[in-house]
Amino acid sequence: MSNAKANIAVLVSGGGTNLQALIDAEKSGVLKSGTIRLVISNKKGAYALERAEKAGIEAFALTRKSCGGQEGFEKRLTEEIESRGIDLIIMAGFMSILSEDFTRHFDHKIINIHPSLIPSFCGKGFYGLLVHEAALAKGVKVTGATVHYVNEIPDGGEIIMQKAVEVKDGDTPETLQRRVMEEAEWIILPASAEKICAGILAGRA
Ligand code: GAR
Repeated sequence: MSNAKANIAVLVSGGGTNLQALIDAEKSGVLKSGTIRLVISNKKGAYALERAEKAGIEAFALTRKSCGGQEGFEKRLTEEIESRGIDLIIMAGFMSILSEDFTRHFDHKIINIHPSLIPSFCGKGFYGLLVHEAALAKGVKVTGATVHYVNEIPDGGEIIMQKAVEVKDGDTPETLQRRVMEEAEWIILPASAEKICAGILAGRA
């Protein structure tokens, strides 16, 4: 296989704006050391799959149900990823916790974007809008996003990048989510992907 670029797989569950940020970053050259080869959704009909198809990227849904449970799901996921020579797995709005076996198998090969400044508002039960609801309920004045490696502890792996975002008076979970996406997530996810892919290429040279 050519070592011109690192191969990326993106795992999604929903709207896929972070996937879109990665696709746009590849087009604009912000992401130049890696290329998105595969998108897998654990939810059928996720809009993220349409975004991938529009960009000409192989994409399909793989559900726990269709694989006969968590073990079967992770086995298929592993097969799909390994048969394509994927170097980096990016969880971009992937709302599912992967087992210790899976995360150990892909140690330092999986990254995730989380919509808060870890260690605040993270771990089991903190995902999507719930994270922003919790931040507003606590009354924090600054929040943000974190990209981290994925290990067996939900949101517990080594931090790669973080970016702070101001909470404004009158914010709702929705307005805060949008600001965190625009000012933090869509910037640090492609930047982290580029950093890691550049490191992978350097290791091959
Ligand atoms: C994003 O805000 C992402 O950080 C968050 O879900 C949203 C997905 O949006 N992920 C988590 O909460 C993971 N624990 P998207 O589908 O438009 O990228």
